[in-house]
Amino acid sequence: MIHILQFETRKGRSALLLLLAIPFCILANSAEPEGNPKLLGGETTVLAAHSGAFSMNPANMSSRRKGDFLIGNDFFEDPWVIAPATTDIRDGLGPVFNVSACQSCHFNDGRGHAPDGPEDDAKSLLIRLSRPAISAMEREMVAQPQVASLADPVYGGQLQDRAIPGVNAEARISVSYWERQMQFADGYTVTLRKPNWSLLNPGYGDLHEQTTLSIRVAPPVIGLGLLESIPDSSIEALADPEDKDGDGISGRVNRVWDVEKQRTVAGRFGWKAGQPTVKQQTAGAFNGDMGLTTSLFDKDHCTDAQTACRTAPNGNGPTGVEVQDEILEFVAFYARNLAVPARRDMDDPVARQGELLFKEAGCQSCHAGPFKTAKFGKDRIELSEQVIYPYTDMLLHDMGEALADIKQDQRPASATEQVEFDATAREWRTPPLWGIGLSKVVNSQATFLHDGRARTIMEAVLWHEGEAQASRDKVLTFNATERDALLAFLNSL
Ligand code: HEC
Ligand code: HEC
Repeated sequence: MIHILQFETRKGRSALLLLLAIPFCILANSAEPEGNPKLLGGETTVLAAHSGAFSMNPANMSSRRKGDFLIGNDFFEDPWVIAPATTDIRDGLGPVFNVSACQSCHFNDGRGHAPDGPEDDAKSLLIRLSRPAISAMEREMVAQPQVASLADPVYGGQLQDRAIPGVNAEARISVSYWERQMQFADGYTVTLRKPNWSLLNPGYGDLHEQTTLSIRVAPPVIGLGLLESIPDSSIEALADPEDKDGDGISGRVNRVWDVEKQRTVAGRFGWKAGQPTVKQQTAGAFNGDMGLTTSLFDKDHCTDAQTACRTAPNGNGPTGVEVQDEILEFVAFYARNLAVPARRDMDDPVARQGELLFKEAGCQSCHAGPFKTAKFGKDRIELSEQVIYPYTDMLLHDMGEALADIKQDQRPASATEQVEFDATAREWRTPPLWGIGLSKVVNSQATFLHDGRARTIMEAVLWHEGEAQASRDKVLTFNATERDALLAFLNSL
């Protein structure tokens, strides 16, 4: 059309028309998929805002498939028991483990919480352990694509704070807090709490002196199949590892090992995107959090130093593992399909102003979307070609020193230390914000950020530093009305 006009008009006028055409081209190139922003999870979205709002099957699921979802739900909720037991199908817990059911950490399928203080138990979190590779042999070992990181030689890659009788638990996890004040431009002050983690009663002596602790509270488990279905190309399009566009934000894809495919793929799940699929994350949870073997991870994680652990009875079934493939599939099916609740207060002018402020502060650069999911056949029909609004780019970002993984003396680990495949001590995957406004409706104790230090959504925002520092600083200029609006928007998600 522009070419035709060029023929018909004089030089001066055609140049003007071309100028007008440029913004049009930009718009056309970055065209967003067309969806309904109220339906955060597309047609899977459920209309619910009660304490069970994270526990629902997708709105577009057939009743036959709901049956499978309910079976998965049982295995997610009910505790596993120590072997040998009369219920052959559910035994094999431990020898060392964190808790006996998925639901204990993912309470009501929502997020867990950090302990309130030294007396409170760490019930819904875990600690990953890694250490920097120093010798040539260690460096060679972590260079293998299957190896996420170098584990602690005695305690392994994850700390288990409980054990079956006759086996030592690895340690008790304890936390105390020191306070940090954050002041807004108008003088309003928020008190943040910075955790000070310690490991009491170590069951097998000291940890390696170089071991890094990565504290992780259970995240909510909604919308995961949708996140799994975002095409790699859409995620890679947002990545900017060298910050070529100079906006101070350089998202990176984590590159992780896919056990079933036996190759390196994009990481998606966990606080550092260390797992590629919901199924592998589920098998990893059975193994690391509950001490249960599957066809993906067929060994209990006892280290050489843990003799009683290595000789304890197992709950192996006919295929030589504790969780049969069929059960693993049911639980993964459940975790993949937990639906996202619809956005609320769509017409509230305060929430709408908050949405503009969210964009103005650059939050959308990382808490991104919408995306269109890939096309699937019968096996993932609910998730096929949905336009979703997860508010994440699925990428790793350096969030600064204060949020970094820590050494045992509480100092932040080095910014370049790799702790989980390509992710460094300071890098975290942007968590999705869908459902965040219902966090405390689903679990009144829920806390925010990877280690649960933030008691409120505003506290979580105020901890943003590193690549997100400019965004956080912008929020610090907000007045009371603007702060309320931002929170009204986040709470509507
Ligand atoms: C000890 C507490 C705990 C238990 C028990 C637990 N999880 Fe988790 N879960 C977590 C934590 C912590 C993470 C984040 C892991 C990470 O960052 O590496 C997580 C992450 C996940 C994720 C990925 C979520 C996301 O947004 O990336 C899924 C799926 C999941 N768990 C499923 C399960 C299933 C299924 C079970 C039971 C077999 C289970 N979990 C048991 C604590 C737990
Ligand atoms: C540079 C990327 C980036 C920007 C910009 C950014 N965030 Fe985040 N956000 C993250 C990452 C990464 C985390 C997880 C950090 C952690 O757990 O330590 C996070 C965590 C959060 C959380 C807590 C989520 C949870 O599940 O606990 C909230 C709420 C949040 N961001 C809101 C915002 C708001 C509001 C803004 C704009 C003022 C913003 N973010 C800007 C990357 C970003």
